[in-house]
Amino acid sequence: MKHLLSIADLGTDGIEEVLHLTDSFVEVSARPIPKVPALRGKTVVSLFYEDSTRTRLSFETAAKRLSADTMTFTVGSSSVNKGESLRDTVETLRAMGADAFVVRHGSAGVPWQVAAWSAGASVVNGGDGWHEHPTQALLDCYTVRRARAERGLDPALAGLRVAIVGDVKHSRVARSNVLAFAALGAEVTLVAPPTLLPPDLTGWPVEVSHDLDTTLAKCDVVYLLRMQLERQHEALVPSLREYTARYGLTSGRARLLADDALVLHPGPMNRGVEIAGDVATHPNAVITQQVANGVAVRMAVLFLLLGAGGDLGG
Ligand code: NCD
Repeated sequence: MKHLLSIADLGTDGIEEVLHLTDSFVEVSARPIPKVPALRGKTVVSLFYEDSTRTRLSFETAAKRLSADTMTFTVGSSSVNKGESLRDTVETLRAMGADAFVVRHGSAGVPWQVAAWSAGASVVNGGDGWHEHPTQALLDCYTVRRARAERGLDPALAGLRVAIVGDVKHSRVARSNVLAFAALGAEVTLVAPPTLLPPDLTGWPVEVSHDLDTTLAKCDVVYLLRMQLERQHEALVPSLREYTARYGLTSGRARLLADDALVLHPGPMNRGVEIAGDVATHPNAVITQQVANGVAVRMAVLFLLLGAGGDLGG
């Protein structure tokens, strides 16, 4: 594997390989000194053209725990503001010794473009426009498996009923998660008002529902998406209050969930919009576990892209 641009690049076997390797890095992360020398001498650059808290810090933490050096590029303080092109930026950072680029950009497809210019360096898609966010999907699949195992449930995703709720239209997280959950055999239902669904779902391995209450009672996993207000340039819902009333996981609605159903959210959360504050702290909400597992999943991805032949180096 040279790049990780889309979940589709991995296929079922590739996803399984990442999830399997993640177990080792969860173990490393639990050590008093959570660090291995696996990527000593390698340089991982985060190339972020869009705001981010957890994804950038998660990749940088992952790189540091593997003993790689890190460089951070954020557009706000860079020569992009002097007119430097993406290509020149990539070539400049490669000339400084970048071995991997983690790319986040507001436009779909940019990580593929960076891969074409990266001159041998690996590229990981850290979120491109509305398109994909593959490491988010990997950490979500990992979190569901682990949380189910911890509760004494069958950890396999095959046959699990997963509801992905909310602003699917603008969500790269939803696109990657549909691919990943479906590849592992889960049955995915999208729950959203018609205005927040993509105009054409041909080829998506999903069911669609506009009735959250009915779907909730029958699902093993409910995955709430953030309302992407910054990407909505027209009124797609009558009001946020109306949205919450029909599609929010309110405290009342959370009572419809089965006792062992898990609640996930990629963050950042709009508390009180797509998820009620007390639901976010419910024992079956695994939102902070998603963040913790995210570091280990990204360690696995960086190791597979840059590491030397299967040796974790102690
Ligand atoms: C998501 C993103 O930026 O794509 N957040 C994340 O990476 N954890 C989801 C979002 O912004 O809604």
